[in-house]
Amino acid sequence: MKFTVTDKTYESSQADLYIVIYETTANLKKHFSKSTLANPINELIKSKEISSTSASSTFYHDFSKKKAQRVCFVGFGKKQVTAHLIREKAAQIAKKISQLNFKNIVIDFKQLTQLDVADCAVAFTEGFILGNYTFSDLKTDKKATPSIQQISFISTDKSIVKKTTLAAINADAQNVARYLANLPGNLLTPSLFVKQIKSILSDKAFKIKVFNSTEIQKKGMNALYNVGKGSENPPYLVEIKLNVTKTKQPAILVGKGVTFDAGGISLKPSKGMGDMKADMSGAAAVVGALKALSDQKASASVIGLIPLAENMPSGSAYRPGDVITSYSGKSIEITNTDAEGRLIMADALAYATEYKPKVIIDIATLTGAACVALGELSAALFGNQQKTIDSFLSYVDQTGEQFWQLPLFDDYLNYLKSDSADLINASESRTSGGAITAAKFLEQFVDKCNWLHLDIAPMMQVNKATSYLSNGMTGFSTRTLVHFLRDLK
Ligand code: BES
Ligand code: ZN
Ligand code: ZN
Repeated sequence: MKFTVTDKTYESSQADLYIVIYETTANLKKHFSKSTLANPINELIKSKEISSTSASSTFYHDFSKKKAQRVCFVGFGKKQVTAHLIREKAAQIAKKISQLNFKNIVIDFKQLTQLDVADCAVAFTEGFILGNYTFSDLKTDKKATPSIQQISFISTDKSIVKKTTLAAINADAQNVARYLANLPGNLLTPSLFVKQIKSILSDKAFKIKVFNSTEIQKKGMNALYNVGKGSENPPYLVEIKLNVTKTKQPAILVGKGVTFDAGGISLKPSKGMGDMKADMSGAAAVVGALKALSDQKASASVIGLIPLAENMPSGSAYRPGDVITSYSGKSIEITNTDAEGRLIMADALAYATEYKPKVIIDIATLTGAACVALGELSAALFGNQQKTIDSFLSYVDQTGEQFWQLPLFDDYLNYLKSDSADLINASESRTSGGAITAAKFLEQFVDKCNWLHLDIAPMMQVNKATSYLSNGMTGFSTRTLVHFLRDLK
C-alpha cells in the first residue's frame, strides 16, 4: 500500500472512493461551493444526512461522469475532530471496504480548521493499517489481502509522504507485535519465539545473541532460570543490538516474554487462563519497535533484551518458599510463583545496567492490579526520573496510546520484606497496591540507571472502547516506543 499526496480535486481524481472529513456543514458548503458536489451537499444537508450536530458517514454515488464515483462524507457531530477520532474512523473505513474491490482512495481533510493535514494523514494511515489487521493466520480460510493499492491525501505538502511512510512502518510494526501476541502457547514456546525474532529481525542491521538455558544458569540468572525450569520448553534470553557502537550510549528495551503463564505451582484459575498466551506482549512490543526503527533507518542506538520462559506447574517447577539468588546478587524468597514476570525481568534489568545505558525501558504485562486500577483504556507508567516520564508522556497525544503515571513511594518497599531473603517476590497483602509493589520490586534491580517501567497488562487485550484495535491482542506501546526512541537525544 502506497501513501501519497495529490493536488487533484473530486472532479479530477477518478478515485474509487473520495472521503471528505468535515467539521461543520457551513465549512463543507464553502469548501465545495464551486464544485459539482455543491448541489448534492445542499440536498444531503436538507435531508440531515450531513450535519454539524450529529456524527455520520454518508455515501453519495454518481457513476455518470469520469471522476471519483463514490464520496463518503464523514462528520463527527459536535465533537472536536482529533487525531484519535480520525484514527478510529480510518479503521472503520478500512474494515468496511476490506471486502470491496477498491484500488485507490483519496482523502480530503483540507477544510478541517483545528488540525494540520499532515497530522490527520498520519492518524489516518495508522488507523487504516491497524483497522485492516485480523489474526487469520491459523485459519484454513485466510483473510484475502486488501485490494487497496494507494491512499492519497489532498495537499501540496510533500512532507506528508515521508510522515505517512514512517507512520505506516510504525503501524505495521504494531501489527507484527499483535501477530506474536495472538500466537498460542503451543506455537510460540520460548524456542519458537527465538525463531520468530530471527526471522522478523533478519535485517543485517541487527546483531542477535541468544543465551540458552545452560548459559542462563551459568551466568547466574537464576530468577529467569527458575521461572522456566518447570516447563518442558526451556527458557532463553535474547539480546538484540541495533546501531550499537562503543562510543554511543544505548537505550535498552526489556520486554517480558512469558510465552504462557499458567501461574506455576501457584496455579491460576482456569477461567481466562488461555489469555495468558499473550503474557509475552512486552517482548512482542520490543520486537515490533526494533523492526520499525530499522525499517525507518533510524539512527537510535538500541538494545532489546527479551527474557523468555514458560511458567508451568510440574515436578521440576520452582516452589513457593524457595529462595533464589538473582543475577544482581540479591536473594528472593518466592511467595507466589504466579508473580513470575518480575523475576525474569529482574535478571534482564540487572544485566541491562551493565551497559550504563541512557535509559532502560521495561515493558511487561506485569499485574492484574494495574487492570483493576486503570480499567482497559490506559497502561501504568512508572519511573525514577520525572523528566524521562514527562518526555515519554509527551507522545501520548500523537500515538493515542494512553499511559498513566503511578507513584513509587519508598514505603511501598516495606511490602516486599522477607524474613529469610533480601526480598519476597509478591506481597500477600490485598492492600499493597499490586502494580506499585511490582514496580517497586523491579526498581531494586535497575541500580541508579534512568528507568521507565510500563505495566501494559490493562492494554494487552482489545477493549470495547477502541475500534482500531479490534480482534485479539493489541501490540500496545509499540508506536510510542518508536517515537520516544527516534527522538531520544
Ligand atoms: N501475567 C500476569 C499479570 C496479568 C494479568 C497480565 C492480567 C495480563 C492480564 C502476572 O504474571 C501475574 O500473574 N500477576 C499476579 C501477581 C500476584 C500473584 C502478586 C496478579 O496480577 O495477580
Ligand atoms: Zn503470573
Ligand atoms: Zn505473567
